[in-house]
Amino acid sequence: MSSHGTPIPMTSRKSAPLKGVAEVPGDKSISHRSLILGAMAVGETRITGLLEGEDVLDTAKAMRALGAEVTQHGGGEWSVHGVGVGGFGEPENVVDCGNSGTGVRLIMGAVATHPFAVTFTGDASLRSRPMGRVTDPLALFGAMSYGREGGRLPLTLVGAKAPVPVRYTTPVPSAQVKSAVLLAGLNAPGVTVVTEREATRDHTERMLAGFGAEVTVEDTAEGRVISLTGQPELRPQQIAVPRDPSSAAFPVCAALIVPGSDVLVPGIGLNPTRAGLFTTLREMGADLTYENEREEGGEPVADLRARFSPDMSGIEVPAERAASMIDEYPILAVVAAFAKGETSCPGVKELRVKESDRIDAMAVGLRACGVEVDEGEDWFAIKGMGPEGVPGGARAEARLDHRIAMSFLICGMASQKPVSVDDGGPIATSFPIFEPLMGKLGASVSRSNAT
Ligand code: S3P
Repeated sequence: MSSHGTPIPMTSRKSAPLKGVAEVPGDKSISHRSLILGAMAVGETRITGLLEGEDVLDTAKAMRALGAEVTQHGGGEWSVHGVGVGGFGEPENVVDCGNSGTGVRLIMGAVATHPFAVTFTGDASLRSRPMGRVTDPLALFGAMSYGREGGRLPLTLVGAKAPVPVRYTTPVPSAQVKSAVLLAGLNAPGVTVVTEREATRDHTERMLAGFGAEVTVEDTAEGRVISLTGQPELRPQQIAVPRDPSSAAFPVCAALIVPGSDVLVPGIGLNPTRAGLFTTLREMGADLTYENEREEGGEPVADLRARFSPDMSGIEVPAERAASMIDEYPILAVVAAFAKGETSCPGVKELRVKESDRIDAMAVGLRACGVEVDEGEDWFAIKGMGPEGVPGGARAEARLDHRIAMSFLICGMASQKPVSVDDGGPIATSFPIFEPLMGKLGASVSRSNAT
C-alpha cells in the first residue's frame, strides 16, 4: 500500500478549463459501516458502490479476521456473510487499520463487548492519533485497553465478558466516538444511550435502523439523544452506497477556481450532517447548483453542477456548521485563497487531530504558496487573493493525509506557478481514482516533483 510505502511526489499546474462529468467513488463513512454492520447481521448483505480505497479495504480485512465472510465481486459489488451480533471470534493476528481512524474506532466499538482481546495498529498517522476518546466510553461497558502513552496505537482491547449497557455524552463532536459506543451497545443487554451536544454524521443510526435494530433519535435541550436496544438480530441488507460528498468536494472546488470550468458531479449524497461545505460555498457566491434532487436509499441525493466563480467573497463560516463539513476545511481553505476578502473558520479544534494537524498542514503549505493565513488553537483565517492571485510555486507536505495532498494539488491547478506535494500516496485511502478523474476533466496533474 502506497501510503505505507515509497512516497509518490505529485505536481499540478495551471489547468485548461475543467469540463465534463466527475463520477466520484462511494462514500467512505457509509462503506465502512456497510461492512461492519453486514458482518454483524445474520446472513448475506449485498453492497454496491462500495469505496474500494485502502481505508475500506483494511476494514474488509478486519471483518474477515473477526470471522465474517467478505467477498469482492468486482466493480464495487461486495457481499458480506455476517456472523450475527455477538458472533465475532478472536482474530489470529494484529488488526492493522492502515490510515483509517474511522475503521479502527468503529471496529474497537464493535469488538468491545466480545469476550476476547484484539490488538490494533495502523500507519504512522493513525499511531499518532488519540484513542482515549473511544476507549474511555468502551471501558464503561467493561472493556479494558492497554495502549501506548495517551492511549495511542498499537493498543490491545480486552472485550467485556459480561457487558453492561451504557449512558454516555460525547465530550467532543465525533461521529466515530458516537458510532463506537452504539456498535458496542449492540452486544450489551438493555438500552445504550448516547447523547451528542452537536449533531454529527448520522449514518450509523440510519443504518442500524435499516438493519432492523430498535433505535430512536430525539432532539432535546441537551442535544441529540440516540437510544439503542441491545442484542437484536440484525437482518442482512441490500445497500447502494451513495457517492461521497467529501470526495465530490475536490472536483467541485477545482471547477470553482479554474477559469472557464463547468463540471457535473452526479449522484452525491447531501445528508444535512455532511453537506456544510456546499452551503458555505454558495454563501461565498459560488456558481454551484443542485440538479435532479431526489432520494436514494433514504438519503437526499443530487447532481452537483459547479462552474468557474470569479466573484467569490470570504465569509465567517458559522462554528455550528463545523461538524457537517469537518473533512472539507482543507479544500475550503484553498477556495478561500482564490476568493476576495477574508474567510474565517472558528470552532474547528477537531482539525488538529485528524489524519494530520490539518490547521497547521494547510497554514504551512498555503503560506509557502504565498497566501496569508492566521491561526489559533481552534480557528484559522485565510486572506483571499482573488481568482488569479495565488502565486503557488511551492512543495507542500502531505503528512500522510489524503485530504491535504488533494487540496494542494487542486490549489496548483489555478495558481500562477505549479504546486507539488511530497507524497500523493495517501490519496488512495479515500479517492483512488483522483488522478485519472481529474486528468479526464482536463486538469494538469502528474507524478513528478516540479518545484
Ligand atoms: C467519520 C467521522 C469524522 C470524519 C471522518 C469520518 C465517520 O471523524 O472526520 O473522516 O465516518 O464517522 P470524527 O468522528 O473524529 O469527527
